[in-house]
Amino acid sequence: MEIVLSGIRSTGHLHLGNYFGALRNYIKMQDEYNCYFFIADLHSLTTHPHPDDFHSGVKTILAEYLASGLDPEKSAIFIQSDVPEIVELYVLLNMIAYKGELERTASFKEKVRKNPDNVNAGLLTYPVLMAADILVHRAHKVPVGKDQEQHLEIARLLARRFNNLYGVEVFPEPQAFNFGSDLIKVPGLDGSGKMGKSEGNGIYLYDDEKTIHKKVMKAVTDAGPTAPDSKMPEPVENLFTLLKIVSDKETVDHFTKAYNSCTIRYGDLKKQLAADICKHTLPIRERIDDISNDSDYLAKVVRKGREKARASASATLAEVKRAVGFRSF
Ligand code: TYM
Repeated sequence: MEIVLSGIRSTGHLHLGNYFGALRNYIKMQDEYNCYFFIADLHSLTTHPHPDDFHSGVKTILAEYLASGLDPEKSAIFIQSDVPEIVELYVLLNMIAYKGELERTASFKEKVRKNPDNVNAGLLTYPVLMAADILVHRAHKVPVGKDQEQHLEIARLLARRFNNLYGVEVFPEPQAFNFGSDLIKVPGLDGSGKMGKSEGNGIYLYDDEKTIHKKVMKAVTDAGPTAPDSKMPEPVENLFTLLKIVSDKETVDHFTKAYNSCTIRYGDLKKQLAADICKHTLPIRERIDDISNDSDYLAKVVRKGREKARASASATLAEVKRAVGFRSF
């Protein structure tokens, strides 16, 4: 059976980008594939979270994974730092990852631009750690949003390079996956760009109805179209992109027609959009606190996930180390 792996950094609550770009697909894939879903706590260390917040960050994502419908009976749900084989593979892959190619990664360049005072080696080799996450389970499919496309390319490059260098076929080449459709980018509602944790423009699974309405009503728009069938400016297009993700076809058609005939009222569009976002997120929100308070259950889930993940990871690492030339005395 094909192997699926993906993960989310443990920084804050999950937002609509995480959910519609990634998590919703995890849930859909659980019945068909051999799935590994994890919480990337090591990746979150690039920004130096306070030690008092580090564990609760992991717990938040775990509870939100489970509240969204990830099922520990179907998938291995685990924490990245519980699998030391990932770190071991990361070291080995770092030996065949070149500085120039890592510096050219768009996400690295963006981080350097935004935080010039914290350009650490962990940031530069972030895609190598990601490749280790994926390759340690020899995953075939990786459900992710559009922003991770380039990281998947690096994972394939390192898989190929390792196989060629050592003359083995240890790693398959992992592919980004969205059920045959293009990978998606959930926009922010602040005018341009994607929804993201560091962008401060997130609508979260944990937000209540009132908060969601307030955030959507504040979304940037313009004065409205003045000529029929005119091209949408980016902030308005972003509202429609989100509407297409959360609403049914009739709703989208209705507002598209209204835009094209210059009769659209953005207030109505926003009210509908907020209501449709709530339809997806409120049933999840309801479950988060209960799950989060059930420490025994969380501990059980994580233990079970760790066992399955380590079994798979240590089998891969044994092959990798044999290929590299490690021998025991
Ligand atoms: P992270 O935590 O930034 O995001 C987790 C997942 O959410 C998706 N995503 C989005 N999708 C669409 N639109 C958006 N606005 C949006 N924002 C976030 C991301 O594409 C991602 O799928 N490096 C990864 C975590 C990771 C990982 C891995 C993923 C570590 N190792 C191995 C897959 C395989 C990250 O930072 O995701």
